[in-house]
Amino acid sequence: MLPAILKNVHRIHDFCIEIFEKSPLTFLLKGPWFANMEMLLTVDPPNVHHIMSKNFDNYAKGPKFNEIFDVLGDGIFNADFELWKYHRRMAQSFLAHPRFHWFLVKRVWEKAENGLVTILEHACKQGLVVDFQDLFERFTFDTICTLVMGQDFGSLSIDMPRIPFSKALDDVEAVFFHRHVIPMRIWKFMRWLGVGKEKKHEQARKVLDEFIYKCVAQKREEMEQKLSNKHNEDQKEDSESDDLLTLYMMNQDKNTNIGIDSESDKFFRDTILSFFIAGQDTTSSTLSWFFYLLSKNPQVESKIRQELSSVLTCNSLYNFDQLSDELVYLHGSLCETLRSYPPVVFETKSPVKPDILPSGHKVNPNTQIIFNLYATGRMKSIWGDNRHEFCPERWISEKGKIKHEPSYKFLAFNAGLRTCLGKDMAFTQMKMVAAVIIQNYHIQAVEGHPVVPDISIIFRMKHGFKAKVLPAISTSNPMTRVRYGFELGFQHLPNHASGLPLDTLK
Ligand code: HEM
Repeated sequence: MLPAILKNVHRIHDFCIEIFEKSPLTFLLKGPWFANMEMLLTVDPPNVHHIMSKNFDNYAKGPKFNEIFDVLGDGIFNADFELWKYHRRMAQSFLAHPRFHWFLVKRVWEKAENGLVTILEHACKQGLVVDFQDLFERFTFDTICTLVMGQDFGSLSIDMPRIPFSKALDDVEAVFFHRHVIPMRIWKFMRWLGVGKEKKHEQARKVLDEFIYKCVAQKREEMEQKLSNKHNEDQKEDSESDDLLTLYMMNQDKNTNIGIDSESDKFFRDTILSFFIAGQDTTSSTLSWFFYLLSKNPQVESKIRQELSSVLTCNSLYNFDQLSDELVYLHGSLCETLRSYPPVVFETKSPVKPDILPSGHKVNPNTQIIFNLYATGRMKSIWGDNRHEFCPERWISEKGKIKHEPSYKFLAFNAGLRTCLGKDMAFTQMKMVAAVIIQNYHIQAVEGHPVVPDISIIFRMKHGFKAKVLPAISTSNPMTRVRYGFELGFQHLPNHASGLPLDTLK
């Protein structure tokens, strides 16, 4: 089957859908004998449930995955079993803590107000065309750097600077897709020769390492200085530096017994690099497709604007809890975007011991099982006849609440025990960005600009999303320009989390 794959590699996503539609939602892909390539591709919900939840202990990321993503070291994405449990427990306690939520909302709001709105207002007044994918990538890069390391590089500013660290992240990610489709022996040979994407990958890895190790050393120094300064105010009240690296450094578990030194620079390097890879392009890709879909579905945009106006009357939109519970239609629209355009296109697992899947397929430790997230969201047997429509209503119950879909059917955030830990964080960011933009502007796609997916592990647009920024018009009075958000500002955020001591984190 390798020749067919290579022939269709430029349209691999749609090619997979065609095969799944003709097969019982699972098929075996075998390469030539020398390629050691045996992959079972599935979108079958019972199979996903079996592997991700019911028989979880028998399935690991496996050695092939570890080799493809070797740059991530011993971080959470590459980890299995005890090491994974350790990472998961740590990451969960920090990401779910109210102090981090408060820090998140504050920082994202500042970036939206000072970065995003400044550029959009400029583009709106000058009638400029903006590449929204580039805009959102800069936005999420700046916010993830602030949230993870406490540093804002200002890549989202009028002169749009190219930050070497951001370019290195892109170059590192660029090989992941090719390493999945090209036989391992071949890409390893290319790496050995130091050619093509593999060469760029190695160069980028050096840039990342140098940069992250420098940040870790800097942070350690800052923290030591603070601790040694007797006159300094109490650390526990210092909610200005609740970034993840600080939280990790202050709360390390010294007795891990899992073969890693949880206080070493290598541990921090692997951990924060995983957060960068997890949190940046996933959120920016979803926002790009979301605004692209809104430009094609103006009735959805109007409904979201109406919902925002009604919620805003209580003057507290940028509160973490309200962002989670209210804005049901906006939430449904984002879920619908994630169903059709999941940023992570596929995931893999391998069995530790031979097993038989609910579909009847036998798998053994050599089999790489691939879940195709893109195809899962587009299967008729899973989502019905209107699977190709953009329909936020499918996510809303009769009582007007968000309808829960099981994760083995809605796979965008992964399923079962390894469900994405940044889901709430991502929704918070995306809702804030959506609210600020939709209330103030209407995004009009440039006609004729091709919006097509790139061939990559992250579902990006190959040529970006080019659009004009027009002022939003009030739904109640078409003559009025709507201008919300700016005046609300940060002072309306409740300071509810700032007093919580850090030792409540675990
Ligand atoms: C729309 C945005 C996002 C989507 C669609 C998404 C999707 C996913 C998916 C599919 C996985 C499974 C990957 C794998 O196991 O190979 C995952 C895992 C994970 N995500 Fe996200 N993610 C998003 C945003 C974030 C953010 C903002 C963070 C926080 C920085 C984050 C943190 C994580 C972590 C820590 C894991 C590993 C969980 C584990 O292995 O136990 N994600 N995410």
